[in-house]
Amino acid sequence: MKKYRIAIVGATGAVGEEILKLLEEYNFPVDVLIPLASSRSIGKQVYFKGEERAVLELTPHVFKEHNIQIAFFSAGGSVSQKFAPYAVEAGAVVIDNTSHFRMQENIPLVVPEVNTKDIMLCKNGGIIANPNCSTIQMVHVLNPLHKHYNIQRVDVSTYQAVSGAGKKGMEELVVQMQHFFNFTLSECEPKAFAHQIALNVIPHIDIFLDNGYTKEEMKMIKETNKIMHSDFPISATCVRVPVLRSHSESISILFEKEPSVKEAREILSQSPAVIVVDEPKSNQYPMPIIATDTDSTYVGRIRKDNFNPNILHLWCVADQIRVGAATNAIKIAQQWILA
Ligand code: A2P
Repeated sequence: MKKYRIAIVGATGAVGEEILKLLEEYNFPVDVLIPLASSRSIGKQVYFKGEERAVLELTPHVFKEHNIQIAFFSAGGSVSQKFAPYAVEAGAVVIDNTSHFRMQENIPLVVPEVNTKDIMLCKNGGIIANPNCSTIQMVHVLNPLHKHYNIQRVDVSTYQAVSGAGKKGMEELVVQMQHFFNFTLSECEPKAFAHQIALNVIPHIDIFLDNGYTKEEMKMIKETNKIMHSDFPISATCVRVPVLRSHSESISILFEKEPSVKEAREILSQSPAVIVVDEPKSNQYPMPIIATDTDSTYVGRIRKDNFNPNILHLWCVADQIRVGAATNAIKIAQQWILA
């Protein structure tokens, strides 16, 4: 089997570390692996297949120097903006986890279970964008239902874990909880979030835009329709909650055709990457602690609206670092190899 020369930009970060783990878990055909990060990380090591790998500094020439064929980027939008073109120039395909290129025309935005074919645009190199974490788990659920019942409108509220803000977000929650137990929480200055996240809920992710929505909310709206090649209206409210890992979403979907709860459960059970956990009478429903460290989107609480028979309400949960970022990136790379 052909093996590939791979770079991970942001290898010391939350998503980069997970990509390293998944390359190993998925037995990805790796020939050479180059972990890249900022100059702050020079001298650090990461582990791949039990061996230490020295982290190198990200520079414009590093991709050419190492003949990189696949470059995973998860070091922030400005890093991708500046360095992804160098990787492409060196002949690599870039799989970019940031929002920078997602809505650009001719850049495929891919969730392999939904629109694998779009990868063909980058068969000979280029940039493939990995969608926003909350979008990926939502389209896992929406796409199969859309095929059966034709979605007319979606309303979603998210309950997003601190892992969405990277390692600094997770550290901030843990440190604030430690301060809480030491009665020193008032001494903590919020850094990763606009307010204290411990014992709080913050209805604000990414920056506010002139239309009153946040950029995160607009990402869910625009990216969903780009991935699904659809144009139904969506409204999103994105909320940060003091959960370490795995995002939850409450989704209400209006369909053209009347759905049945039983059939919707069956459709979702047969969908790739989706696991239905929906036995409320025995307290079985998706929760972040079930989804964490797994590659599935969990869905439950599937029920009809009390007033409109064409509306279903449901609850879905997925590990943001895996399903919402690293796993999707690895699956894109697997499909790119096959393209
Ligand atoms: P570093 O550890 O050297 O700062 P997270 O999302 O968990 O916060 O991780 C962000 C990742 O992006 C880290 O690996 C970080 O490396 C990397 N990174 C941040 N800024 C840069 C930059 N200017 N150049 C290269 N890598 C960067």
